[in-house]
Amino acid sequence: MGDLVTMDDLSDDEITQILDEAERLVPVAEGRVSLPLLEGKVLANMFFENSTRTRMSFETAMKRLGGEVLNFSSVGTSVSKGETLYDTMQMIDGYADVAAIRHPKQGAAQYSADSVNIPILNAGDGSGNHPTQTMLDLFTIRQAQDKIENLRVILVGDLRYGRTVHSLSHALTRFGSSLVLVSPPSLRMPSEIVTDLRNSGCEILETENFKEQLVSADVIYMTRIQKERFPDDDEYSKVAGIYKLTSSDLTNVKENLIVMHPLPRVDEIDSSVDKTKHSRYFQQAFNGVPTRMALLCRSLGVSVPKKVK
Ligand code: CP
Repeated sequence: MGDLVTMDDLSDDEITQILDEAERLVPVAEGRVSLPLLEGKVLANMFFENSTRTRMSFETAMKRLGGEVLNFSSVGTSVSKGETLYDTMQMIDGYADVAAIRHPKQGAAQYSADSVNIPILNAGDGSGNHPTQTMLDLFTIRQAQDKIENLRVILVGDLRYGRTVHSLSHALTRFGSSLVLVSPPSLRMPSEIVTDLRNSGCEILETENFKEQLVSADVIYMTRIQKERFPDDDEYSKVAGIYKLTSSDLTNVKENLIVMHPLPRVDEIDSSVDKTKHSRYFQQAFNGVPTRMALLCRSLGVSVPKKVK
């Protein structure tokens, strides 16, 4: 109850409700309106793997709503003395009201949710899932396209290890989008995910090139080739830098095509794209704040007012 480990934990109606709530919370996220809905509540930010956006936007979200944050990282804690995830989470169960957990091992968020009483929000588990990212991605798409249904979305890059695209592809399928999956052969979306998406009715094209797909797309979602997930450097060097979107690729595209990226980027989006009307990745990163506010409220059973002012 209150956990968010994969997108399967949310019904379509709940997704829509959370996006509506996040929209109402934007003035609070921007610091223009005070709304201490989570006063007296404590969030534990449990990051066993590096993060800038997810950790900080969770912290901003909690603080903007009047709550407190405990920041944990595997450096400087008893993890370095060999304390297990199970034992660590038992402590957090007593110290906090809700926890966001990022961990390099797939399944760590579900394991944590099964081990404690407080609600667990999966902030990224290895190559598994990243559902709070998906919620802010859907928020960003809706903001730009006025809908999340029946879009044509290109996902580019590391589709094998990329947890953002694993969660997002499932959510987009539920809302009737068609997907173009662009990757080198070694980084294709896992076949079980592709089969699952196709069985759910998703029209999928798998290809190695994205440029000829741009003309019909509503969204292009670039991702980083994640060096840290490769078993060896040689395999990484074969595909590093394989995709690069530049502003000159955006001359013959739909007026309202948006370019997204969960960030951090390395070289897959040229800085010339930043100034175009199509770029949304910095807005997307900000959208983590209102979206995670709404998700924290859901986990803690706190209602977001119908009118926020
Ligand atoms: N998008 C995302 O998960 O970014 P961080 O790794 O910086 O949290």
